[in-house]
Amino acid sequence: MSRPIQIVIIGASGDLTSRKLVPALLHNHADGSFDQPVQIVGVSRSEKQSEAWRAELGEGMPAELGEAWSELAPNLHWIQADAATPEGIAGLRQRLGDLIEALPGGCRQRSGRLFYLALAPRLFGPVVAALAGADMLTCEPGDDEGWRRVVIEKPFGSDLETARALNRALLTYLREDQIFRIDHYLGKETVQNILTLRFQNAIFEPLWNRKHIESVEISVCETVAMEGRRGAYYDQAGALRDMVQNHLLQLLALVAMEPPGSLQADAIRNEKVKVLQSLRPFTAARVSRDVVRGQYEGYLDAHGVAEGSKTETFVGIRALVDNWRWSGVPFLLRTGKALSQRFTEVVLRFRTPPIDLLNGPTPADVCPLRPNDLRLLIQPAEGLQLGFLVKQPGPGMIMRHSELGFDYAQLGNGATPDAYQRLLLDALTGHATLFIRGDEVEAAWSFVDGIRAGWEEASPPVRSYAPGSRGPEAADALFHGCEGTWSTGP
Ligand code: BG6
Repeated sequence: MSRPIQIVIIGASGDLTSRKLVPALLHNHADGSFDQPVQIVGVSRSEKQSEAWRAELGEGMPAELGEAWSELAPNLHWIQADAATPEGIAGLRQRLGDLIEALPGGCRQRSGRLFYLALAPRLFGPVVAALAGADMLTCEPGDDEGWRRVVIEKPFGSDLETARALNRALLTYLREDQIFRIDHYLGKETVQNILTLRFQNAIFEPLWNRKHIESVEISVCETVAMEGRRGAYYDQAGALRDMVQNHLLQLLALVAMEPPGSLQADAIRNEKVKVLQSLRPFTAARVSRDVVRGQYEGYLDAHGVAEGSKTETFVGIRALVDNWRWSGVPFLLRTGKALSQRFTEVVLRFRTPPIDLLNGPTPADVCPLRPNDLRLLIQPAEGLQLGFLVKQPGPGMIMRHSELGFDYAQLGNGATPDAYQRLLLDALTGHATLFIRGDEVEAAWSFVDGIRAGWEEASPPVRSYAPGSRGPEAADALFHGCEGTWSTGP
């Protein structure tokens, strides 16, 4: 059996631990993904006995995880400590060592340890500094027994400057290969499938460029509004920082990147960074024209939202990627809360056929045919749809739109694993492909900061929209001429 590992969740009293992390680890255990003893250690300033923590987590446990839970529960431990202070860390270090010692064949020095920082962002730097101060982060590159890694939850900074400062602070104590910046979208099966679709098939890639694709739409639409106490965080962030900087730009990078030289983490991340760095920076004039921000009616009444807040709960962007492959192709990005439908989708719309043999030349005031699009359905529908025209059976040449489709459910492997399952396993095995590198995060902030600067300077309107609608109508104008309009979802 391999060396034991400890997963140390710092900030374990937040709901991420009970909602996502522990269930994901349980699923991994149930799937047989661990071939070594695993200890899950919750760390927080709150006083609690391990027994009480287990009881809390056990309460909401779904029946199908019952067996995995009874096996894993004894390995869950709670340690009360203030991880941002040297005293707190000294106690933590001792207790973590004791827990490993208590395992059969105790092996204090040679166990792998993952620190998962589920903390308020302002604590990332101080906690890493405190851990390093107690020599808890030291390991040799490539050590697959006594490794030390740190997972950082989002948000990673609130603009380029703070993200840079955080990168600098982390890199004072850690090597880049020890840092795992999470974006849970990268753990979604359908997002990972973008790479397979593009680079393991011969039919798509030749069309995947400006010659054949007229526009790319990336939509992440949500029906949820501000739940519970979320408003306080969200009001400081807004849709641009909460969703575009990370999830939408990650989707864009995967859709637009060049083929990597290999599937190694850095080969893929090098290509993603190049795309993000090729995004055309916004000027104030372009922000007023090519970005639409909105706020749903009733947002101001949500808990934690400042009076008269102008925070956007919707944003639509007409972005451009200034590189050889995509020059001139608009990337239409949209995300919003309190919309009519929840779906995440990427749509590649192909250019019009050069001649319409059936109808002859298209009159100037009519849009020529655009029969083809490829839809990557990310969630909740998971699959692909390729749209094209077919002849309707019968006399004459009457065309109708049809689709070739693939539905993940057809693979029959049961429920799609939650993103955190994959991401936690990858962090435990040191696979960084699905995590964001420091330069990637900075390139994404640089783009987003340009939009925020434009909002500051030009003060474009924050359009209100009705909850349950498609968002502000003004966003429709981000599509030009005959380019079509936003997807209405699957
Ligand atoms: C989070 C955002 O990162 O992603 C939330 O902070 C958002 O505001 C969530 O609701 C969406 O994730 P998913 O997986 O439900 O699409």
